[in-house]
Amino acid sequence: MGLYNDVVLPRLCHLAMRNRHLVPYRRRVLAGAQGEVLEIGIGSGLNLPFYGPHVRGIHGLEPSPQLVRLAERAAGRSNRPVSLIEGSAEAIPFDDKSLDTIVTTWTLCSIPHADRALAQMRRVLKPGGRLLFVEHGLGPEEAVRKWQHRLTPVWSKVSGGCHLNRPIQALIEHAGFDVARLETGYMKGPKTMAFIYEGDARPI
Ligand SMILES: C[S@@+](CC[C@H](N)C(=O)[O-])C[C@H]1O[C@@H](n2cnc3c(N)ncnc32)[C@H](O)[C@@H]1O
Repeated sequence: MGLYNDVVLPRLCHLAMRNRHLVPYRRRVLAGAQGEVLEIGIGSGLNLPFYGPHVRGIHGLEPSPQLVRLAERAAGRSNRPVSLIEGSAEAIPFDDKSLDTIVTTWTLCSIPHADRALAQMRRVLKPGGRLLFVEHGLGPEEAVRKWQHRLTPVWSKVSGGCHLNRPIQALIEHAGFDVARLETGYMKGPKTMAFIYEGDARPI
């Protein structure tokens, strides 16, 4: 799996995430970012063009060295200071209460211990800071959920650990966040991977 995970998957991730149907979500969610921002699982840096004028600096955390390299290229085209850190969301290398905004887009599905990662996000956010998110996850209908549970064990093996069946709102709330805005619904695509949770949350 070395060549597949290290070379093929990061390329596939970059190509899949360039899907034009994701752009309106990125635009809406990133419009709320301000101050010092940490993007969790920045991937190839596809969100960078959507950060607005209220952002002072962007820090991108990403475990895949290949994706960090792609993000470096995107950072070179950004008009904001961007620092890239190779690392994992389960151990965020920032001080407590040091960041204004945390961004996750299509990332909570892939983090092995999403609960630990969210606890870390809560730790590093300033009081009044915001977690901005767009994630796919567990659908509302039993028939869709059944397939999400069935497919996840195989799908996660070929997709770099993506879970189709994570209850995103519950995960965020259980980590000690108040979800202030939430929009849900299916985007274009197979229902098992297209139920979207978009919104923002504040540490309680
Ligand atoms: C589907 S990609 C999304 C990339 C990017 N957020 C975007 O919107 O284009 C999932 C991302 O989660 C990252 N990821 C996986 N495990 C992670 C972890 N433990 N901590 C942080 N990011 C992780 C992957 O490396 C990948 O960049």
